[in-house]
Amino acid sequence: MFKSKTSKSALVAALFAASSMAFAGPYDGIGKQITDEAIKPWDISVFFDGENLPAGKGSVADGEKIYQAKCAMCHGEFGEGAKGYPKMLGDKLEILQKHAKSDEDTVGARGINNLWGHAPTLYDYIRRAMPFFAPQSLSNDEAYATTCYVLYIAEVISDDKAVCDADFLKKTKMPAQDNYYTDPRPDVKNARCMKDCMKEEPVVKGKAVIGDVSVGAVKKVGE
Ligand code: HEC
Repeated sequence: MFKSKTSKSALVAALFAASSMAFAGPYDGIGKQITDEAIKPWDISVFFDGENLPAGKGSVADGEKIYQAKCAMCHGEFGEGAKGYPKMLGDKLEILQKHAKSDEDTVGARGINNLWGHAPTLYDYIRRAMPFFAPQSLSNDEAYATTCYVLYIAEVISDDKAVCDADFLKKTKMPAQDNYYTDPRPDVKNARCMKDCMKEEPVVKGKAVIGDVSVGAVKKVGE
């Protein structure tokens, strides 16, 4: 998973450096400032809006070759998934939502086309975690190509001549995009209460009903 031993030990050195800065004491002078070079292999997070997407590109056609060689055995030749492995092409979003609303199990019907909100996140995931047996082995261009092909077989894009790069992924609208939103609530910074926090007696409004596991005999409101 890690690119090299050097980057791993550099991080450890950086952690020591940070702690020695915070607490001058017995560890003072141990460690060294981490270099940009050492941070680079760790700095792989791509944000949903495309921030931090690397330079490079890859086509649907290039992605197909990689996908068939390194992904199809688990995710299916057409993205239909293999036993126990996720599909790339799941049910259409409206169908998935309809089943979910009527309380049906939709886990097996999930796919890139109904679950994922942003194409840059898909790029991040594929480059970071896939193929399962060799994560982070794809180059930036290979990750673009594979993402492009996955978007194609998941029917998010229809152009088999598409070439994916940072700009393309930022502009690609995923079917489930509107299901993702930023929590608009403000951060609150209340003082932590450590003693006599409840002003009134707590009222138990119900009890755990799963099997017989509960906190014991509790009084329901009005009993
Ligand atoms: C050995 C089997 C295997 C191979 C090969 C493999 N994957 Fe996966 N893939 C998995 C498993 C298992 C998961 C689920 C991981 C999890 O949820 O933690 C997954 C998850 C994914 C997901 C997220 C699916 C979702 O909806 O949550 C994507 C996208 C993906 N893989 C793409 C790829 C690509 C692209 C390749 C080839 C470069 C690849 N995988 C190769 C096993 C594999």
